[in-house]
Amino acid sequence: MSTARIRPAEVRSIGVAQPRLEAREKVTGHAPYAVDHPVPGAAHAWPVLSTVAAGRVSTVDTAAALALDGVLAVVWHGSAPRLEPAGDPGLLVLQSPRIQYRGQVVALVVATSLEQARAGAEAVVVDERPDPADTELRADHPALYTPGTVNAGYPGTSELGDLDAGLSAAAVRVDATYRTPPMHHVAMEPHAATAFWERGCLVVFDSTQSSTSVRDALAALFELPPQAVRVVNEHVGGGFGSKGPGRVTAVLAALAARYVGRPVRLAMPRQMLFPLAGYRTPTIQRVRLGADEHGRLLAIGHDAVSQTSKVVEFVEQTAVVSRMMYAAPHRRTTHRVAPLDVPPPTWMRAPGECPGAFALESAMDELAAAGNWDPVWLRLANDTRVDPELGVPFSSRHLAECLRDGAERFGWAGRDPRPAVRREGRWLVGTGVAASSFPAITWPSTAIARATADDHFHVQVNAADIGTGARTVLRQIAADALGVAQHCVEITVGDSAIGPAPVAGGSMGTSSWGWAVTEACRRVRERVDRVHHGRVPAEGVLCSADTTEDVAAREDLARYAFGAQFCEARVDADTGEVRVSRLLGVFAAGRIVNPTTARSQLIGGMTMGLSMALMERGVMDRRTGDFVTNDLASYHVAVNADVPAVEARWIEEDDPHLNPMGTKGIGELGIVGTAAAVANAVYHATGIRVRDLPITPSSLL
Ligand code: MOS
Repeated sequence: MSTARIRPAEVRSIGVAQPRLEAREKVTGHAPYAVDHPVPGAAHAWPVLSTVAAGRVSTVDTAAALALDGVLAVVWHGSAPRLEPAGDPGLLVLQSPRIQYRGQVVALVVATSLEQARAGAEAVVVDERPDPADTELRADHPALYTPGTVNAGYPGTSELGDLDAGLSAAAVRVDATYRTPPMHHVAMEPHAATAFWERGCLVVFDSTQSSTSVRDALAALFELPPQAVRVVNEHVGGGFGSKGPGRVTAVLAALAARYVGRPVRLAMPRQMLFPLAGYRTPTIQRVRLGADEHGRLLAIGHDAVSQTSKVVEFVEQTAVVSRMMYAAPHRRTTHRVAPLDVPPPTWMRAPGECPGAFALESAMDELAAAGNWDPVWLRLANDTRVDPELGVPFSSRHLAECLRDGAERFGWAGRDPRPAVRREGRWLVGTGVAASSFPAITWPSTAIARATADDHFHVQVNAADIGTGARTVLRQIAADALGVAQHCVEITVGDSAIGPAPVAGGSMGTSSWGWAVTEACRRVRERVDRVHHGRVPAEGVLCSADTTEDVAAREDLARYAFGAQFCEARVDADTGEVRVSRLLGVFAAGRIVNPTTARSQLIGGMTMGLSMALMERGVMDRRTGDFVTNDLASYHVAVNADVPAVEARWIEEDDPHLNPMGTKGIGELGIVGTAAAVANAVYHATGIRVRDLPITPSSLL
């Protein structure tokens, strides 16, 4: 028996600002990403993509490629090991001659060096037989249908009262259609994986937001028990949703490694990511609002159109934000989707809420202008304490506080509502506001905590740190639950062998993993105190936790984070150039665990929203079904010079209905509403209402 007694911490760790634990490793290049792990004998792979949007591969001529130095194999549907059809059909790579979008992987060349693999890929001759392809989304597309459910399990349609009656009774109405283009994640680290087989077991270093779901997907495809697959994602260079579900990269690397009998590395080249990483679907959204003469909403209608692929159904939940944001007795939201011969769209930061709030919050600004109401006041006047469609109370909702605090700090009072009347030199100046919200989700997770006799603690949870600071905040949470200082706690994340844990997505990571960490740590603390009288025995103490029952036992409440975004935009009166000069977000997102990493998440989301408003547009050539914007030279994202001082703040929010930490997610909240705040500021500056993103000079001239 050790005599060491656990030293109690003098301060709580939650709420303390601190940098990422792995910051030094990352900036010095020592943090191993998916293809950085030293794996002896690893070969390299390079994909060959389809060049038609629909059709069949008739033959693949591999002779020239196989004759090249260093080329080990060409894997294609005629030679690839068979996969068990299970789960996402998009993962059944190289199994059939069918081509369902341009940019689909039709062959994979494996060679001893990266250069040889690429040369081999150029030498492969694929004979494709094209079919007619349909790649253009239109609001009147004949293939549009109404799905029963949309992503995240929401019903496709919702209705309360009588929308048409509400609209006819309204004194002031808006009926407008908004469009958002395809958008791409372009994470810094490409989709990448290293795979090898060892005594019948599969090990994959994958750049993924969820090693649990990749493990499960690979186990199903290769017909292995889950414990025979290990997926490691120690460091992930961004994902933004594109690395949430299992992706083809890991499957291809595993398939190729099995085929050539040695480890295989595959890092998707940047240009291949545009069809292969998924993207945010384009949307066409009609929003109808009706208010009485006092500015009270009577009717909210939101009809969203999006596209999906023919590989798998993916329906963006675009209109769901209009179900919970504002009170109104008459309401209807609908989703329709068209399956096209296009690459599969996927989750992207605040799927649904992000494009949906652009439309809703622009329409609220149009309503304010039409009714001569202040846009902040109009939102306050339609605030609600209960979810207006479900009739369930919000666990906490401080949208009004965010709006008031933001308005005061931004200097909203005394704003001249007239558009296009402020000029500073060549710049027309305007201000805009929009509301933000995102569900506060918690999923079950497992975690393990261990105390050792030297007064140290090791906490393991299969979180994915995609650059957010997950391991840093989880150590803070662990330290408080153990009642010790952080430096006594070691934290390990990013390994499916630890045990099941949810995706770093849906802004649920900290809440979900943190709950399991809290539980495991509390048990260790309790066992040490009760059984061992405060001393850790020589053999240590180990406890694990699984929060499945805790999460299921929570009461039925509407759980959301909220925010208010304020933007000042300047528009060059001659060229139409838009510069955002100020961006302020005030958020209410439960307890903030680490102000440093939280601010980084929020300003990151706001920056991405600014980028969406002014720059980002995936352009598909509808003749080929290919994105012609397929690198960072053609697909523009905001860079430092485009982004002013972005300020993110939060109000203290104590919500006991969430999880033991009292946290709501913050990864996605910051992007919701930002584009509308920018568009509303541009309207105030110029008098021009831009309903199609992005706002470019040609939108304003
Ligand atoms: Mo996010 S799109 O839920 O990873």
